[in-house]
Amino acid sequence: MTPSLHDVTRGRLLYGGDHNPEQWPEEVWHEDVALMREAGVNLVTVGVFSWARIEPRPGAREFDWLDRVLDLLHGAGIGVCLATPTASPPPWMGARHPETLPRDETGATVWYGSRNHFCASSPVYREYALRIAADLADRYGDHPALRLWHVNNEYGTSCWCDETARHFRRWLRARYGDLEALNGAWGTAFWSQRYDSWEEIVPPRRTQYLANPTQTLDFRRFTSDALLECFVAERDALAERTPHVPVTTNFMPLFVGQDGWTWAEHQDVVSVDLYPDPADPDGPDGAALGALVQDLTRSQARGPWLLMEQAAGAVNWRGVNRPKPEGLMRLWSLQAVARGADGICFFQWRQSRQGSEKFHSAMLPHAGRRSRLFGRVRGLGAELGALSEVTGASVPAGTAVLHDWNAWWAGLQQGRPSDRLTHTGPLRAWHRALWERNLTCDLARPEADLSGYALVAAPHLYLLTDEALDNLAAYVHGGGTLVCGFFTGVADADDRIREGGMDARLREVLGIDLVHEWWPMAEGETQHLTLHPAAGISGAAGPATADLWREDVETAGAEAVASYRGGELDGRPAVTRHTFGAGTAWYLTTLPDPDTLRALLGRAAHEAGVRPPLPDLPTGVEAVRRGGLLFLLNHRREPVAVPLRVPATDLLTGRRHERGVPLDRHGVAVLREEPPAREGLREGR
Ligand code: GAL
Repeated sequence: MTPSLHDVTRGRLLYGGDHNPEQWPEEVWHEDVALMREAGVNLVTVGVFSWARIEPRPGAREFDWLDRVLDLLHGAGIGVCLATPTASPPPWMGARHPETLPRDETGATVWYGSRNHFCASSPVYREYALRIAADLADRYGDHPALRLWHVNNEYGTSCWCDETARHFRRWLRARYGDLEALNGAWGTAFWSQRYDSWEEIVPPRRTQYLANPTQTLDFRRFTSDALLECFVAERDALAERTPHVPVTTNFMPLFVGQDGWTWAEHQDVVSVDLYPDPADPDGPDGAALGALVQDLTRSQARGPWLLMEQAAGAVNWRGVNRPKPEGLMRLWSLQAVARGADGICFFQWRQSRQGSEKFHSAMLPHAGRRSRLFGRVRGLGAELGALSEVTGASVPAGTAVLHDWNAWWAGLQQGRPSDRLTHTGPLRAWHRALWERNLTCDLARPEADLSGYALVAAPHLYLLTDEALDNLAAYVHGGGTLVCGFFTGVADADDRIREGGMDARLREVLGIDLVHEWWPMAEGETQHLTLHPAAGISGAAGPATADLWREDVETAGAEAVASYRGGELDGRPAVTRHTFGAGTAWYLTTLPDPDTLRALLGRAAHEAGVRPPLPDLPTGVEAVRRGGLLFLLNHRREPVAVPLRVPATDLLTGRRHERGVPLDRHGVAVLREEPPAREGLREGR
């Protein structure tokens, strides 16, 4: 059987962080381990950036120090997530083998002296990487501390060098077979771009004017695949030697560079790094982004996942780096647990004193053991220890939000209707609207089986494959509710525009005859919307407006539930609803203001029968069910009281609450609800 996260947790939530003992004299390691125990740490990631220490010159191996680190950790009962150090090759590699260094779009070399300076297509890099991965597995495969493999770190580099060009051509040959198919897919009849031989093809390097969009799209696909090849090769080398130890690599949150759906299929454990901005904790911008990334990661994992990195306080890579106010680190950590995390880890255990990240917070800051921050770290460790029963439990979701990297990549092209439109803008706005309504969402690729969801939301998918379009049509026809956002289903898999401004199948589902024109809006423009009684919406505060995008659509069977008011599109439909087969399909031709969007999505969800875990939740309180437990999280700085339907006991405090739970500023309760008393039982029958 393939190993899984279950083999790592062994029934306990994981807690820890990146441990970089190579930055410290050995006596500090002993203090580290003692303080880790004090904090309740049970898993640390070792070796992420240790390549130059293990292999100081080509072929050398210095493992003694690492032996001692692992023995020490094991002696203290702390498990190890052992990393292959392949994200940061030693300087000797770049100096001796300059072809391992990446080149940017202009051909300039990206030098060592930082990290991530490798070309994924370089056979030399790959060979050295595989050798060190294999040697680590040979040496530590049987070490009792070893619980999980961590390959590389945040794969995400790109390269435009000649080796990459050769690799890209091989990838294109496999995709298209012959050159005519490639010329067709890339639309090279345009601007005299026809290729006469494979050797002429290069990665999309710097051009005079707009680059070929399909070439760029394919290069993004290729880059994701090239990095994945590196991961899979290392994973296989590890798995061959240690079939019992699961393998992961940490994703960046909502990261553009990897097709996260495809990558996740190759992981035993799906893990992610998450750094929302704590500058506005009331926001809750940070928490909304956190919820989206957590939902995405859980969906990639199809179950529990691992928060591999977060910051205990400030990061050091924003313009202004604010620490986390009291309560926020705990709140966001427990939010991740609520949304399916089986482990909460940090970058990093001990704050560095040198190097580029010395101003980045850590579990054990410069201020040391007596610091406020370490006190919080200790407190969280104890609380996670009390939540073991949640380990492995699933998070039920009635709604799927569709997300797709190919649509994202294609939408990034130059020369599009509006560069104010991003893929993630509508995605984040829609997910946030659903999150604020406490409707737990999975994320799904548009080709996924959607039959288990009462509601499917497609915020903005510029490109949709034929398979996805058939899937969506079948879903609605079979009784599902689809809410579709603007500028969706516009292009096919080669980024060829579909006739009618939107694929005909999708138009039929939505009850739309034509999309006449797109009317994107300039910064500062406001479009008013009229909501019709048919929308069934009440409660949206203030006038409904939009400021990003409009479409001039001709309906064919759909009813308008909102229209444009004023401007060139005055009176034209802005939001429509249509019955298709046994289901319902909504189309939002615009991105309404957050209140209106929340009301519209809330309405669609209500009609579809999707409900939050508790009714009447106060604003700013997030409620999620995981397994048999109900998590309540107060994202506000003011205390609130949350009414309960049945008495419940808070696992964090052991207190029983009859009718309501008080939550402090950024407070959290993890409740086991009592089964409702049955009438008959109460009457003694
Ligand atoms: C992550 C990375 C860590 C550390 C951290 C700082 O992207 O994996 O090594 O650099 O950021 O926030």
